[in-house]
Amino acid sequence: MRVMIAPMEGVIDHTMRELLSSLGGVDRCVTEFVRVSERLLPPRVFHRLCPELATDGKTASGVPVFVQLLGGQPTVMAENAARAAELGAPGIDLNFGCPAKTVNRSDGGAILLREPKRVHDITAAVRAAVPAHVPVTVKTRLGFEDKELFLDIVAGIEAAAASELTIHARTKRDGYRPPAYWESISQARERVSMPVIANGEIWSVDDALRCRAVTGCDDLMLGRGVICRPDLPRLIAAANAEGDTIDALGWGGITPLLLRFFETTLLQYDAHCAGNPLKQWLVYMRGYFPQAGQLFEQVKRLRDPDAIRSVLQQSQPSSTDRYAA
Ligand SMILES: Cc1cc2nc3c(=O)[nH]c(=O)nc-3n(C[C@H](O)[C@H](O)[C@H](O)COP(=O)(O)O)c2cc1C
Repeated sequence: MRVMIAPMEGVIDHTMRELLSSLGGVDRCVTEFVRVSERLLPPRVFHRLCPELATDGKTASGVPVFVQLLGGQPTVMAENAARAAELGAPGIDLNFGCPAKTVNRSDGGAILLREPKRVHDITAAVRAAVPAHVPVTVKTRLGFEDKELFLDIVAGIEAAAASELTIHARTKRDGYRPPAYWESISQARERVSMPVIANGEIWSVDDALRCRAVTGCDDLMLGRGVICRPDLPRLIAAANAEGDTIDALGWGGITPLLLRFFETTLLQYDAHCAGNPLKQWLVYMRGYFPQAGQLFEQVKRLRDPDAIRSVLQQSQPSSTDRYAA
């Protein structure tokens, strides 16, 4: 079984990938999408979204980071994929799931699911342009308005010789609303020989086990669940290894991560907005840890990094309660 961390634009950047992958149980990450429209992008664009290119395409913990491309034109997608591979990307991932109106209006993301042939053509062009040893993976939803074309889309991706397929088990119209239709993943998996990775609504070890049972997939991709519970990949991996049980990080184990994350973002952002990624993370996390909601209330109006740091420092646990809830 493999556990992947999902691409999440504006949320899972290099800093977050570094931190999440350091906790263990992660087999792969994917960058935020590189928007491809009309031209071959300069190397700096790839390096900005995937600083890991400087370290063999891996996080400091050695987890490979695939570069995700989003666009609707096969030729220019292929050129940019070849460039990402030249720059050292360990894999290329194609985004056919983005629901954003601005992206869909300009011929990218989930809108392409209305045209299975274009999904096929883009995938085939990218596959042909990238060296054979570099995997080309595809991430899709079940469709745009409905899932009528879903199995055609999947068949096209298989015919284009994609290495693997991740299925976010909702249509564009479903947005991010539960449920995720895991049984549709199972239908796709039965029809293809490439590995299929199941994605959508995995928030706990229990969800992971049920998702694997329903879909028949070995591999899972976690999005919002890993933001809420950073050690979820490790817990899932341990549950999969028979007889191996480990303690979940309680709030006492989370607060040092928050401080570490804040100190790292402080080095990258202007001081007055350095707290924003931390605040965003707390908003996601409060769905699981009520303490994150309380911490968010304490920092939400603070701009001064010293003031934010001081609140975070006060929230740090004593050495004995690291695993306390
Ligand atoms: C804020 C946000 C940003 C996202 N950005 C991307 C993206 O850049 N590329 C992509 O393929 N999917 C993106 N997704 C979709 C996720 O990768 C994932 O498919 C989706 O959240 C379902 O998984 P989950 O239920 O585990 O969160 C994004 C989702 C969210 C919530």
